[in-house]
Amino acid sequence: MESTVKTVAVIGCGARGCGTYARIMKGSFSDRFRVVALCDVKPELLERYGEIHEVPEADRFTDETVFFEKKRADLLLVCTQDADHTRMIIKGLSLGYDILAEKPLTSSRKDCRALLAAQKKYGGKVLVCHVLRYAPAFRKVAELLDAGEIGKLAAIEATEQVWYPHQAHSFVRGNWRNSKETSPMIIAKCCHDLDLLQYYAGSRCRSISSVGDLSWFKPENAPAGAADRCTECPHIDTCPYSAKRIYIDRWKNYPDSWFSYIIAFERPLTEEALEKAIQDGPYGRCVYHCDNDVVDHQMTTMTFENGVKATLTMTAFTANGGRIMSFYGSLGEIVLNEDENTVKLMKFGEEPQVWKISELVTSGSGHGGGDYGLVAELADMVDGKAPARTSLAASIESHLMAICAEESRLAGGKLKKVH
Ligand SMILES: NC(=O)c1ccc[n+]([C@@H]2O[C@H](COP(=O)([O-])OP(=O)(O)OC[C@H]3O[C@@H](n4cnc5c(N)ncnc54)[C@H](O)[C@@H]3O)[C@@H](O)[C@H]2O)c1
Repeated sequence: MESTVKTVAVIGCGARGCGTYARIMKGSFSDRFRVVALCDVKPELLERYGEIHEVPEADRFTDETVFFEKKRADLLLVCTQDADHTRMIIKGLSLGYDILAEKPLTSSRKDCRALLAAQKKYGGKVLVCHVLRYAPAFRKVAELLDAGEIGKLAAIEATEQVWYPHQAHSFVRGNWRNSKETSPMIIAKCCHDLDLLQYYAGSRCRSISSVGDLSWFKPENAPAGAADRCTECPHIDTCPYSAKRIYIDRWKNYPDSWFSYIIAFERPLTEEALEKAIQDGPYGRCVYHCDNDVVDHQMTTMTFENGVKATLTMTAFTANGGRIMSFYGSLGEIVLNEDENTVKLMKFGEEPQVWKISELVTSGSGHGGGDYGLVAELADMVDGKAPARTSLAASIESHLMAICAEESRLAGGKLKKVH
């Protein structure tokens, strides 16, 4: 009988590739997946994850050219940085892999066309990690909308609360700070939101207008006497963006604080390792003196082909993280509020119904259970036994929305057609 265990090759063994998906596969779905090959430019990651997954040294690669010499597994996980995804997905498809690809796929319309063409030519499946579609709270909303609980949907209002330390970590000091190296913010951070909006609207997006700027994280806003590095700065204990406060003080109060695990490699994590990381590394830079250019707030307005309207506000400047989405229908309203841990259905003239998000999530924690939910369905989606919720075609749609929003922003908010 054919084995149901899918062999898996991972390229990009960082926080997402091995820290999330391969970890969930081994921890909860070892009867469905087995990691057999790893590729990362960092040998220390190959050693760590090679041992965990018992991948022989001959199947650990630091050079993508050698890794891509042949097909090494049933499924390829593409979890490198944003600018690598299109190239690696197309290469993987040409070798005959089915692929789980991290978002964003690309920042260009040309790549969107190339990805669809490659899939048509080579025929493999591509699933994109728009993990929120697999998160129970976001699924609950889809069920309520599909069941007609609020009648005809007219509009959606969404707020993406990036959260001030998350902005500082990822979008000022970190990997997604500079759009020339990675992706614009609307693609890097908001592609989940745009994916959800087109999914909930149930229609392609027709037109978009977007405005936004980098308003705060630049030299003229530095407090008087600020140094280039936090460890040398007189504001180290008072600035809310201080690396010491984000990576050391916060970690002491909340040992699970994920920011700290990204900046230092040592496990178990130590205060000494964190001190060294902020002393010497990129995450110890003053937020007002980095090489960042991505926006810290952006507002986007959308009209879908079926007439549904949506707005999305992305802002760094929130005291807490999490998404808030309000759905306005002819017979009622739904509000999903991650900050308040609730999904609330308010049918007009009836008592509200409230679900606690933490009670809807029965397994896994990352992205509200979405990371776990994606892996749980992955094997069946690849085998065609479950609908491919985040197929390449569906995901390209929200990428086109994001690309269009950025084009509009750069044109001062001009209304742009998506297709
Ligand atoms: N789905 C989500 O919600 C979600 C959340 C966070 C990040 N992401 C995306 O996931 C991707 C990975 O993010 P991450 O946080 O894991 O980053 P990461 O930096 O932790 O991991 C990326 C890894 O790729 C490796 N790498 C770089 N170039 C390589 C090459 N040529 N060959 C092999 N390995 C190479 C790096 O050494 C690194 O270990 C990014 O594109 C990011 O935007 C998605």
